[in-house]
Amino acid sequence: MDLFSNIDIEPVRKRIEELSRLVDYYNHEYYMNDTSLVSDFEFDRLLRELIDLEHQYPELSLPNSPTKRVGGEVNKTFRQVTHRFPMLSLGNTYSTDEIIEFESRTRKLLGDTSFSYTCELKYDGVAIGLTYRNGSLVQAVTRGNGAVGDDITANARTIPTIPLHLFGTYPDDFEVRGEVVYPFHEFEAMNALREAEGDEPFANPRNAASGSLKLQDSSECAKRKLQFCAYFMMLPSRYDVLHATSQPASSAMAQSMTSQELTDHLATHYGRLEAVRQMGFKVQPYIHECKNIAEIMDYINYWDTERWNLPYAIDGIVIKVNQVDLWDRLGLTAKSPRWAIAYKFKAQQVSTLLESVSFQVGRTGIVTPVANMSPVWLGGTTVRRATLNNADFIQNMDIREGDYLLVEKGGEIIPKVVGVDMSKRQPGALAVQYAVTCPECGTRLVREEGESGYYCPNQDGCPPQIVGRLEHFVARKAMDIENLGSERLQMLYGKGLVSTAADLYDLRREQLVGLECEVDEATGRRSTIQDKGADNILAAIEQSKQVPFERVLFALGIRYVGEVGAKKLARYFKNIDALMAASVPELAAVEDVGEKTATFVFDYFRDPRHRAIVERLRQAGLQMSVVEHRVSNVLEGITFVVSGVFTHFSRDEIKAHIESHGGKVISSVSSKTSYVLAGENMGPEKLKKAEKLGVPVISEVDYLQMVEPAK
Ligand code: IVH
Repeated sequence: MDLFSNIDIEPVRKRIEELSRLVDYYNHEYYMNDTSLVSDFEFDRLLRELIDLEHQYPELSLPNSPTKRVGGEVNKTFRQVTHRFPMLSLGNTYSTDEIIEFESRTRKLLGDTSFSYTCELKYDGVAIGLTYRNGSLVQAVTRGNGAVGDDITANARTIPTIPLHLFGTYPDDFEVRGEVVYPFHEFEAMNALREAEGDEPFANPRNAASGSLKLQDSSECAKRKLQFCAYFMMLPSRYDVLHATSQPASSAMAQSMTSQELTDHLATHYGRLEAVRQMGFKVQPYIHECKNIAEIMDYINYWDTERWNLPYAIDGIVIKVNQVDLWDRLGLTAKSPRWAIAYKFKAQQVSTLLESVSFQVGRTGIVTPVANMSPVWLGGTTVRRATLNNADFIQNMDIREGDYLLVEKGGEIIPKVVGVDMSKRQPGALAVQYAVTCPECGTRLVREEGESGYYCPNQDGCPPQIVGRLEHFVARKAMDIENLGSERLQMLYGKGLVSTAADLYDLRREQLVGLECEVDEATGRRSTIQDKGADNILAAIEQSKQVPFERVLFALGIRYVGEVGAKKLARYFKNIDALMAASVPELAAVEDVGEKTATFVFDYFRDPRHRAIVERLRQAGLQMSVVEHRVSNVLEGITFVVSGVFTHFSRDEIKAHIESHGGKVISSVSSKTSYVLAGENMGPEKLKKAEKLGVPVISEVDYLQMVEPAK
């Protein structure tokens, strides 16, 4: 039997290799060179054949098969990896004077040596390092804290501009570093989709790229149209040069470098990026060799305005000494090299006419003034509206009718009003009239002492508040009830079927089937809920009964109780009854819960309407207490104070870890503390107190040994 399978398997292995090579190559030409060498049909056919073969012969499937581009691997957590070479950051400045100083300092340090600089764009994305061994991608790691990052290899494989196999000539073992960016048009399309599905949009492309790399399901990451742009090559002190053996005959890079040519290229940063480009990476075409400060300044000035015409965000310019052998001579400061510096662009600012102020009502009744302005082009988009935050903001900035507002956009996509252009103020301009009554329900607005804004007190009768609360309740981070977007909730409220979260759990199939709602504001297209749609909604509602207590608490929408606050309250009080019975000082004793939040929580549960909703939710079967995941009791009776930054855990994770092993975490050191668990940069006060009281201070490693000695 074995004999037969051995005979049979070789041609399959060959075919898998051949298909992988072809698909890889077509992918490369398509994404890097905008060239379709084969029809979509032919491409899909080859890919399908490869997928089928890998399915049939899983033992032959290659770790870097191009089929990995579509994802499929699921990472519950990301393995922490120590960088082989620390990922340094750059010294940065907003001042061109400091760039001049950098240049003259460098020149002085290098004396008579002749050298040049490279100027290149500073991408505003997420830094990652890619390790290649023998021409194959073996690991992708985020920068993390520079010493330790997250292993995101499965997600990185889905990014088309990250080569899985290198072309041409390359070192046998090295790292390529660069930035994962989210191109503007892809970012906007993705955000539009998120909003349509009732998900919170990302604030900017950088956050979106970072969130995408941390998606647990790599096939979800594959759907985000991320790009990788290489900006650095990290070589070990010893390496050999290899040549790709599996290059398709028709490659555009058929003429690959010789070993000597590669070695020559490796002597300069410019040459290294050129070499990296030939291996199959995307490298910015704008990198420029500059001989002196005048050329550096020209480059900076050019990109200060030209940057908005790029398809992705940059936040500055990076200037590096080009000759690699000089890097050692210049050395490092505490955390950044002396041979490079980043110049950061100031936020772009424009002035535009304030046409009117409108008032929006949120789910908590808070009224937010919004500036409607003459459309103005800023940072790659047209800006028409910007928040004016609250009444205090308008007063402090002294915003008047007919003023020209100064609007800024930094790294954020959301424009910010930063002041008034006083040179254009009309004589006698009147102060902006703040709304006196709710623009939605007409109720007189109120302002509570110590609050910066007004709110509409008509909780139960003001439509945007009611629907807003429902939207918050069903949101992904709360009860995660899919299939109930804003339109549908509005419709359910309009029909009188749902006005509180508890009503959702009384919905019946026959009430849903046939309901019509507007789905597209622009076209006014209407859709009707069919049998299947109704079943999906009811299934999602049913599913939400499994959502853990901390998220149920967040979903209630108590003012100032965000995701983190809800988690802390839930962990501390363990169940809703203990929480409802807690006094303000008891609530405020919880870490990260201030007096103000404590008061809001206390007041919330004094309102009989809220207690009735909680009761109905409990009856419906929602989780009203914390389900403890006890792993062991090894820390039973041991009390820890946790301080500093840890390598394997975030602060919250280490606390949860202690509790899961039966230990207790308290916030300040006392004679009752068994151990102070110290990470990096722990507070000196805690250390002093521990020494004074004779409380042992232990490291993360000591702790792990205490809990899991076998490891
Ligand atoms: S070079 C040792 N080049 O800026 C030099 N960095 O603090 C390593 N960045 O986190 C960095 N574009 O992610 C370099 N063209 C570029 C860059 C760049 C963006 C980021 C990088 C790093 C930060 C510098």
